[in-house]
Amino acid sequence: MDDIQNKIEKNTQKVLNKLISEERIAVDFYLGSLSNINPSQRYAIEEKFTKIGIDEKNDHLKKLIQFANKFGYEVPFKYKDFEKYASKKMVSKFNGLKNGEDALYYIEKAIESEKDAINSYEEVMKDEYVFDLQPIILNAYYDEIQHLQDLELLYDCVAIGVVLK
Ligand SMILES: [Fe+2]
Repeated sequence: MDDIQNKIEKNTQKVLNKLISEERIAVDFYLGSLSNINPSQRYAIEEKFTKIGIDEKNDHLKKLIQFANKFGYEVPFKYKDFEKYASKKMVSKFNGLKNGEDALYYIEKAIESEKDAINSYEEVMKDEYVFDLQPIILNAYYDEIQHLQDLELLYDCVAIGVVLK
């Protein structure tokens, strides 16, 4: 019985580390990359990137960290500290808007990252020793699928010059 308990705790910690670090990178990407995008193109994707970034931060990342805190697992940082850091990133997106990158390049990167996130959640879903985390995993998994669909549509719209409202 102790062996099973150990395995659950070990696997849960491993999965938490993996998902928390991936979600943190996603938050940085969605809320931090806008400042690198050419301002004339930024407006086309700003709303969607901000919405997805907030899902990643206020839902996925926050729930994983709350779970870890509640059940005594280690977390590499406090959510409160991270939130301050992320909101600085959000403010910074309005600064330094020259010599930008192409918006389509960022949407492509976002599509790749959502595909990776979907694979990652599918992989951890197979781990029978993290069952306490399954509701959080499932919720995030379905969100990432929705993000991917939204981004693919956004890509097509930006490519043909339509700005989604
Ligand atoms: Fe996520």
